[in-house]
Amino acid sequence: MTDFAGSDFSEFWHYYIAAFTVLGILFSIWLLSSQTTKKLAEGEQAEALAPTWDGDLKELNNPLPRWWMWMFYGLIFFGIGYLVLYPGMGKFAGTLGWTSFQEWKDDKDAVDAEFDKVMGPYKGQDIMTVAADAKAREMGQNLFMTYCSQCHGSSAQGGKGFPNLTDAQWLFGGSPEDIQASIAGGRIAEMPAMGDAVGGEQGAREVANYVLSLGGKQHDATLAAAGQAKYAACAGCHGEDGKGMAIASFPDLTDDAWQHGGSESAIAQSIIKGRKGGMPAQSQASGGMLSDAKIHLLTAYVWGLGGGKQPATPAPVEVMAAPAEAAPAAY
Ligand code: HEC
Ligand code: HEC
Repeated sequence: MTDFAGSDFSEFWHYYIAAFTVLGILFSIWLLSSQTTKKLAEGEQAEALAPTWDGDLKELNNPLPRWWMWMFYGLIFFGIGYLVLYPGMGKFAGTLGWTSFQEWKDDKDAVDAEFDKVMGPYKGQDIMTVAADAKAREMGQNLFMTYCSQCHGSSAQGGKGFPNLTDAQWLFGGSPEDIQASIAGGRIAEMPAMGDAVGGEQGAREVANYVLSLGGKQHDATLAAAGQAKYAACAGCHGEDGKGMAIASFPDLTDDAWQHGGSESAIAQSIIKGRKGGMPAQSQASGGMLSDAKIHLLTAYVWGLGGGKQPATPAPVEVMAAPAEAAPAAY
């Protein structure tokens, strides 16, 4: 008898289940044969079991038809054959060695191999080449729908708390390398709660209006003037001019690409509560689900959505985010 590898099925249950299976089969055989052996003796009339229905329909206790009996014997033999070949008798693994796990794994390996065949050729190409390939974009979009759209939206324009990936504003950089790193390793940008630093709710409203004024947006001039000095607490991260520092993942507060909302009250909430994002790591190396080939396709897809930047060159470091020309007014 072969055991399942790693099965913790106890001896007791093994014999219990096997005994029940054997008893069930024996019972079926006995029941069937008890019905076949009963024959009408010469001259004996089948008894009528119940009153007649519909005028002349009678139920008699004749033996069961032969063909019907043999069909059931056939099924029992099929069942025994099945139990010899496949698992079913307690722990006995069956002579074919079939397991549902192996079947699942074979299926999965076949699908993965299929994927690799299709995606493999793109892996060696650079992101911009892949992004220009219609078929690769389509595959990237399908992957995006499966793994990313629940947070970033099916159009990739994000939503409250989730960044828009179609504009030119990047928290963590928009070069192919940066986007790939964001997807593969995940990202967390964190802003501490600043309520106390700006003097509570009222202070937060004042600073929020000053932030709006930095972006040239509609604001209350009196409140903004009162907030200007308090903004000093923010400048270390978001810059004197509010344009942030893309290189350190401090967002530009003067554009229209708000992750947490750009109204006076939303900005005040960002200040009071602080904000923390959380982009889960996707690569298998970081505990995620996606192979490198899939991440490569996704990177190209995201890069090609409209906001992708040229690959990082060793030369000048771009500190400020690009102008907001590509930002859709989706907020
Ligand atoms: C220690 C650095 C740091 C300081 C100080 C800081 N912030 Fe932030 N701020 C961040 C980071 C990082 C984020 C992005 C958080 C995220 O992605 O969820 C952020 C996000 C924001 C947002 C949300 C932006 C959006 O797109 O919705 C606003 C508004 C904001 N900060 C305003 C301020 C103001 C006003 C101050 C000063 C009172 C301030 N911050 C101080 C680091 C800082
Ligand atoms: C559980 C929600 C969630 C899922 C799923 C998710 N993301 Fe994100 N993603 C975020 C959040 C939140 C941020 C911003 C992180 C921050 O502010 O700290 C982010 C940031 C990013 C960034 C960086 C954006 C920037 O401005 O630099 C990229 C690129 C990105 N995600 C792509 C993807 C792709 C591609 C997938 C699918 C494989 C994906 N994300 C799946 C929540 C998610």
